[in-house]
Amino acid sequence: MKSSKTSITKVTTQVLREMKNHGEKIAMLTAYDYSTAKIIDQANIDVILVGDSAANVMAGHATTLPITLDQMIYHGRSVVRAVKRALIVVDLPFGSYQGSSKEALNSAIRVMKETGADAVKLEGGEEIIESVQRILSAGIPVMGHLGLTPQSINKFGTYVVRATEKAEAEKLIKDAILLQKVGCFGIVLEKIPAKLTQKVVKSVDIPIIGIGAGAAADGQVLVFHDMVGTTQDFSPRFLRRYANLDDVIGNAVRRYIDDVKTQDYPNSKEQY
Ligand code: KIV
Repeated sequence: MKSSKTSITKVTTQVLREMKNHGEKIAMLTAYDYSTAKIIDQANIDVILVGDSAANVMAGHATTLPITLDQMIYHGRSVVRAVKRALIVVDLPFGSYQGSSKEALNSAIRVMKETGADAVKLEGGEEIIESVQRILSAGIPVMGHLGLTPQSINKFGTYVVRATEKAEAEKLIKDAILLQKVGCFGIVLEKIPAKLTQKVVKSVDIPIIGIGAGAAADGQVLVFHDMVGTTQDFSPRFLRRYANLDDVIGNAVRRYIDDVKTQDYPNSKEQY
């Protein structure tokens, strides 16, 4: 099946499950602002992730750690105002759920109440399972995130492919099964071997969305700014660029500067 079902008026977690069952791949992208979210929703993206990667691409931080819950809520609200069709998932940022399950629940409730998003995403498996359960028990849909979990970059020390060793791969499969068992509606797998993704997909029934995790996943997610080419300095193997927006924007700005300097802009029709 080539393109997404345009007849769906609102993508829900149930719709994602049906897509998986029918073999339709799920397409997910990040967005952090109203204008971008509107464009990608109107293009019929299935899921929009208000990712904590906003810390990198919006604010220029080296890691995702500095972004706050208030900032995630600001981005989430901006996206929700624009979106009619896509399921909207908001990342719980570093420090907003690891302390205790009560803190996790409070953070998730704030996101749901103050943004109007459809679900939250948390990084980790067994070590955060109490938090995941408590959020789910409040009726909030949760998406898991395993493999390269960027909030743990200081523990990993590097952004290389995760779970290449047997022990980490086995833990990842166990974590995926556990996240499904407690009720997560889906899991993001980031930067792991494609063969391991195949095993995870065989081990669980919920949709698995990959980023650098190979073709076996039930869907794919990319950071919007990476796939449209505004982040040319970031070139992991898994990234396919669909546009070179840095060229497009740079050329537009150079032409504008030139038109202002040469007094070509504004012309007689562009003034009152
Ligand atoms: O924050 C983010 O953009 C993410 C994706 C990389 C999955 O979590």
